[in-house]
Amino acid sequence: MTRQILVTNALPYVNGDIHLGHLVEHVQTDVWVRFQRMRGHEVRAFCGDDTHGTATMIRARQEGREPEALLEEMNERHREDLAAFDVIYDHYGSTHSPSNQKLVNEIWEALRGAGHVAERDVTQLFDPETGVFLADRFVKGTCPRCSAEDQYGDSCESCGAAYRPEELSNPVSALSGAVPELRTAPHFFVTLEDFRAFLEEWTQREGVLQPEIANWLMGSFLSEPLRDWDVSRPAPYFGFEIPDAPGHFFYVWLDAPVGYMSSTWDWCEQTGEDFDRWWRNPECEIHHFIGKDIAYFHTLFWPAMLKTAGQPLPRRVHVHGFLTVNGEKMSKSKGTFVLGRTYAEHLSPHYLRYYLASKLSDRVTDIDLNLEEFTAKVNADLVGKVVNLASRTARFLKNDSLTEVYPDDGGLFEAGAAAAEEIAAAYEACDSGRACRIVMGLADRANEYVEAKAPWALRKQPGKEEEVRAVCSVALNLFHQITTYLDPVLPRLGEGARALLGVEGPPRWDAAAVPLTARPVAPFRHLMQRVDPERVEAVVAASASSEAS
Ligand code: MSP
Ligand code: ZN
Repeated sequence: MTRQILVTNALPYVNGDIHLGHLVEHVQTDVWVRFQRMRGHEVRAFCGDDTHGTATMIRARQEGREPEALLEEMNERHREDLAAFDVIYDHYGSTHSPSNQKLVNEIWEALRGAGHVAERDVTQLFDPETGVFLADRFVKGTCPRCSAEDQYGDSCESCGAAYRPEELSNPVSALSGAVPELRTAPHFFVTLEDFRAFLEEWTQREGVLQPEIANWLMGSFLSEPLRDWDVSRPAPYFGFEIPDAPGHFFYVWLDAPVGYMSSTWDWCEQTGEDFDRWWRNPECEIHHFIGKDIAYFHTLFWPAMLKTAGQPLPRRVHVHGFLTVNGEKMSKSKGTFVLGRTYAEHLSPHYLRYYLASKLSDRVTDIDLNLEEFTAKVNADLVGKVVNLASRTARFLKNDSLTEVYPDDGGLFEAGAAAAEEIAAAYEACDSGRACRIVMGLADRANEYVEAKAPWALRKQPGKEEEVRAVCSVALNLFHQITTYLDPVLPRLGEGARALLGVEGPPRWDAAAVPLTARPVAPFRHLMQRVDPERVEAVVAASASSEAS
């Protein structure tokens, strides 16, 4: 049965470049999407920039330009960076779009109409110089507990105390250095507790969330009354003005997830597709891919919004852990806070796709990029086990073709074909690490075969031409089978394998089931180089020096 699947990846903040942490998610999403496409399903994937909020407003001001100009430049950069890693979305939109405004207004109207909005005054620190209300991280001052200086408005890095920004002594605005004052303004809140029964049921529904996320919600947020969610900000704020409350704007997180819908909307406008068939169709599976830090937005607020708007709910929210580098949080000074573009200047994006995919699972645990292991693993698995199958055999079939009948290989190809559903189940569950391990097991056995048959020695013996041809036909078939299974992770390698063996069209999962015969073998082109450890060091050095400058 063909499934109709809509996939989203969290919308990166417009203010920064794509870094390796973001790429964990984009790779996970892209692998899943490519896998589903290979299986013949109807899949569309959407992403875009998350644009609104104080940070955008301030940066545009500092740079002396309109926020829109900033958004356009960053949108372009984000698209470029993702394309470099072969991450493909059907549409990469922006939350600052007319369609997003229209859709968020509709949801707002529904929330209001259903009586889920309350209004209350909020007192906050205000910067009289720049004229903006200050979010916690825009206030600095002396810790009220240990008197450490220069601490952020929410917690002290020195003693760990958590507090509210107005409790700091000697507070200053991080934007202007001015002394902030307290100001009171009305805010709008979504009364989330209204959704308790629904959320208790939906978050525990089979298959919707990973068990660790479902349990965490039950043990934390859902174990006490849900707090009202503050969804508005008084002017000035870069965002959408609330239609029935002039001078007030939707808080960035209200319109951000609506960006999934508006990105789809804009794609529909361009392609003539029917929006309702994708977003208002219970037959269409909606899958969100996100990091653990934003799980509560996607598992509490967002379903409540969708439910109120009468929209189908996500079929599954896939949550991944955080990327660490060499066992630690990415660090700018250590050169381990690496931008996608910095990495791509020195190393092939495919190495990273494979390494991350081989580490990702269906669990929410963090993923460590160990740079030594990165080099060793890519070289051992991809160059040593996979590409080697072709590089050691294809040239012996130059100006020749695969055998007319697939030779006896002792059951290797058949065993590989029989693994298809197990590998597919791993991809389906987002356990690409397991999929990679199974495939590498197949590659091990294929290499044992080639080693044992040693076609390079065989061909020096007279009268063994047909045997060499048979051995190489087996090796290239196993290579094709393996690269087919790896295609969601390594699409260019898959393309190279198909070009070598003259296989046309997009990759298909069931191509791994039937051996290829009687096809001319194209001249062997280099498919992948070894990782040079010096280039890995160059990435770290470049990341550290860009921080220093
Ligand atoms: N703009 C919000 C998401 C809105 S979705 C409606 C946001 N942006 S972000 O740029 O901070 O992060 C985008 C995604 O990247 C999130 O899912 C986040 O979890 C993920 N990651 C950001 N840093 C990460 C790591 N270091 N490791 C893994 N994922 C990380 O949140
Ligand atoms: Zn302190």
